[in-house]
Amino acid sequence: SGPISIGRRRRSGALASSIKGTMEDRRDSSDERMLVIVPPHPLIKHWISVLRNEETPCPIFKNAMAELGRLLIYEASRDWLPTVTGEIQSPMGVASVEFIDPREPVTFVPILRAGLALVEHASSILPATKTYHLGVKRNESTLQPSIYLNNLPDKLPEGSRVFVVDPMLATGGTIIAAIDMLKDRGVENRQIKVISAVAAHPALQKLSERYPGLHVYAGIIDPTINEKGYILPGLGDAGDRIFGT
Ligand code: URA
Repeated sequence: SGPISIGRRRRSGALASSIKGTMEDRRDSSDERMLVIVPPHPLIKHWISVLRNEETPCPIFKNAMAELGRLLIYEASRDWLPTVTGEIQSPMGVASVEFIDPREPVTFVPILRAGLALVEHASSILPATKTYHLGVKRNESTLQPSIYLNNLPDKLPEGSRVFVVDPMLATGGTIIAAIDMLKDRGVENRQIKVISAVAAHPALQKLSERYPGLHVYAGIIDPTINEKGYILPGLGDAGDRIFGT
């Protein structure tokens, strides 16, 4: 396994950790490292703290997840969205302008069910997007993922930018199953950004070994998981806390 260095400053002041990959099978950009970015924003710290609190009631928990998602998607779209430039007539004169290019495909892939809350405000930031849902269930005893819903098309449009939204990266099994499905549909590592609330080291280590060039945006990084695959200290079962079940 490769070195993990957390705390290196990268563009825009984002706190980043760089994890060098070691496995060959899924490589498509062998000289790149996976990046984990924890944007140093006080609102992100705030919403993570609300989520961590075991006394946070269900509707407030759900809202905190949605607000966190909005901030992480905003940060992850920085420097990533193609624009078109031109000139426009303002009431006071001609001005140079730059718009998001609506022809470039941007896609959200929320992982059910907890991903639904994290992706809730995505369309307020990026309205011209497509959303394909993926249902991935974890077997409670083997911790192996199985896919029970797949809305992905057989192929994604050339050059798609894909946000995979999964609040809890614990063992890494679920997110790896999701990314492998995208790769089977022609999407490369550098076209994918993972959005998560809490990312644990075991998941990050596996992701870094399989997908060099991948970017992971997380609200916080936690050190470990327990024998049942829950993140420590984490925030409990995100789906149960969002939906109250
Ligand atoms: N999924 C959750 O909801 N919580 C965890 O801690 C790990 C996986």
